[in-house]
Parts: sequence; C-alpha cells; structure tokens
Amino acid sequence: MIVSRDEGACPSALPVSDGAGRAGDDRVGSGISGWLRRWGRGARPPRSWWSHVEMGPPDPILGVTEAFKRDTNAKKMNLGVGAYRDDNGKPYVLNSVRKAEAQIAAKKMDKEYLPIAGLAEFNKASAELALGDTNEVIKSGRYVTVQTISGTGSLRVGGNFLQRFFKYSHDVYLPKPSWGNHTPIFRDAGMQLHAYRYYDPKTCGFDFAGALDDISKIPEQSVVLFHACAHNPTGVDPRPEQWKELAAVVKKRNLFTFFDMAYQGFASGDITRDSWAVRHFIEQGINIVLSQSYAKNMGLYGERVGAFSVICKDVDEAKRVESQLKILIRPMYSNPPINGARIASTILMSPDLRKEWLEEVKGMADRIIDMRNQLVANLKKEGSSHNWQHITDQIGMFCYTGLKPEQVERLTKEFSIYMTKDGRISMAGVTSGNVGYLAHAIHQVSK
Ligand SMILES: Cc1ncc(COP(=O)(O)O)c(C=O)c1O
Repeated sequence: MIVSRDEGACPSALPVSDGAGRAGDDRVGSGISGWLRRWGRGARPPRSWWSHVEMGPPDPILGVTEAFKRDTNAKKMNLGVGAYRDDNGKPYVLNSVRKAEAQIAAKKMDKEYLPIAGLAEFNKASAELALGDTNEVIKSGRYVTVQTISGTGSLRVGGNFLQRFFKYSHDVYLPKPSWGNHTPIFRDAGMQLHAYRYYDPKTCGFDFAGALDDISKIPEQSVVLFHACAHNPTGVDPRPEQWKELAAVVKKRNLFTFFDMAYQGFASGDITRDSWAVRHFIEQGINIVLSQSYAKNMGLYGERVGAFSVICKDVDEAKRVESQLKILIRPMYSNPPINGARIASTILMSPDLRKEWLEEVKGMADRIIDMRNQLVANLKKEGSSHNWQHITDQIGMFCYTGLKPEQVERLTKEFSIYMTKDGRISMAGVTSGNVGYLAHAIHQVSK
C-alpha cells in the first residue's frame, strides 16, 4: 500500500512507502518493532522531521564576538559585548560579591527549591533598592515583586503578564532604537510592537520634542516602555526636567508605564540618581511595572538575577496580582535559581557589604566616564575636527558614536576593532591601554 500523508504525524516530512505496509493496521507501537508494524518492512524511515526548518541569522552581538575570537591581531578590541571589563580588559568580579559568596558558603545552606516567586528577602530588598526604602509604596506594601531570570526573564514575565491581564491594550511602544531583545521578548509574549522617536542622529542626543510629540499621540491606555537610565543602545537619557514632562504626558494620555532598569547605579555611579525617573513617576501617582537586573551593577551576568515588580492600588490588589504572577511563572520554569539571589540579598542586607558594593558600582561607572573623556581627548590629539561631545554627554555602558556602517566596517577590517553595525561601542571594553589606538582608528575612518 501507499502510506498516505494524512496517516502520518509530520505530513511534510513523511516519506512515501515502497508498498510493504499492511492495510488497516492501526496499531502504533514504539521502537523498531512498532515502526515496522506502522510503516512496513522495507519502508524508508522519515528522512527528517525538521527539513523545513530554515537556518536563522546569528545573533548580531554574539556574531561580533565570534568574529573577534577568530582575529589574530594583537591589538584587536571587542566593543560589541555589553559586559564590564576592568582597566586591563578583564572580566571583573566585585569584592562585595566574593565576600557574599564566602559568607554563603560558610553557612552551608541547603539547595532546596525556592518558592515560585523566589527568595522573599531578595524581592523586598530589590523593591527597596529601586524605590527607596522610605517610599510610600514600600511602606504601605501596595506592590508585589517576584524574582526573575535576570532582566530578560523579568521583561518576559512582564510581557506575559500584560498579555494575560492588561485588558485595555496589547500595544507596546518602545523608544526608537531600543535594546534589540525588547521586540522579540514582547512579540513572543503576544504583544504588538510600535515605536516612538527617541534618538536624534543629527545631534547624537535625545529627540525630546519628537518623543513628546509621538507619546502624546499614542492611543490612550497603551503600554509605553522607558529605559530607566543608561539607555541601550544610545547612552542617551532624558534629563530630570524632561522626565517630568514625559510623566505629565503619560498621565494626561492615561498610558501604562513599563520601566526597564537594567543599569541602576551604572549610569551615574549613584543608585538613587539612576532611579530618579522611576521614583518620580510613582510620586506622580503612576502605577508602573518595573524590570530590574543585577547583571551589570553587581556583575552577576551568568547568575541570572533579576526582579519584576507591579505597583498596585492597594495591598489587596497586590496579593491578587502576586497570585496570578505565580500561576504564570509555575509552568515557565517552576521557580527561579537560588544562588544569585542569595548573593544579591546578602549584599543588599549587610550594611558593610552594601557600602562596599556601592563604592564598587561607582568605581565601574567612573571608569567608564573616564574612558569617555579620554576618548574625546585622544580624538582631539589625533587632530579630529568633528564635534565628539556626545561621547561625554551620553551615559552608561554604551556609546552611540554616530559612525556609519561603512566606517564601522573599516574599523573592523583595517584595525580589528569589533562593534555592532549601528556604530554602538561598549565603553566597558575601552581601557587606558587601548583608548589611544581606538581614537587613532576612529579618526582614520572619519576624517
Ligand atoms: C536595556 C536592557 N534591558 C534588559 C537587559 C537584560 O539583561 P540581563 O537579562 O542580562 O539581565 C539588558 C542587557 O543588556 C539591557 O540592555
């Protein structure tokens, strides 16, 4: 008989039998004998279940790292990756983290599952870090915070929560440009993506008028996402007066605010200053949701430590929201990992470690700010006549240089300097040892 396509499990991948199967045999078994019963002796096995799967494009940032690794030039620089490096270009583990790890190890704690919402003391300390421990929201308890798989996991839990419970709209407005992962995170969570103007290529700065204009036209009750500080990829943040106007327009248009705070402390070196916008929106009576990550500010990249918070009308609402967040998380990953949350909460809750951590965060932010200044000074020394002020005006890990794709290509080909095609460089990869070489190369391709 001919095995017809509608009998099989995977229509497009099914082979056509060479005719030895028995008609009317509907027994399905497992293993070789089951396969023979179903498809018949002599039939060819399916060539593949996945022949229709096309090769996907490589991740743009990880692709840069791969190319960097293959390069044998001793002067090569990887400015693509968004991870902090010390002034020797080496990954940096904070002393406060090392000490917290030692304290945790000494306690010989068990490795039981965490609750679905994560480590309670971590969640409390995270909310307090973001909002300030004297914040009315914290005092009244009208919020819920759950531990998540770093910032990405937090955004995804948030996206899924909005998709399930934000009954007013599934439209999310992102700054243009935004972190490359925002779009697939919210899209895969079932939301529709839109953009508002944010970056002005003419000034390499914030397009405040454009952002205000676009946001004031967003349909009421839609979701608008803001980077709380150290905007990725542009390094361009609104000033406090501008945040005030943005909050006013969000309120007027009755928009719902999603804050992504992946870099608290990393922008200015001061955790309070970097959470100014989040705190201001809440003071204005805007009940936001918030994603936090400890990847950058504690250097806990691979530990995957983050939090998602929902500010609610009252405690009762917070309890209901929490119950639904748990129902959402349970089938995703059951409960979050324990180690990183222990490290972060140990640091946040111990006055000595917290003090040391705050100094270390400032140290990282200051090194980056110093590299910005040195880059501009070296460009001047090279004789560049361009205005590079945006390099020092921008803040945080990334600098949107304004270099064109063809200039980026030359930097890579001629100088082994690797970065994303949009001209974004990770300032964390610049050191006092290579800043001169970088300035020389940028001048060569931009003069
Ligand atoms: C704007 C922004 N949000 C969120 C994240 C999430 O990072 P992670 O999942 O490593 O915490 C990043 C990381 O680069 C980011 O730049």
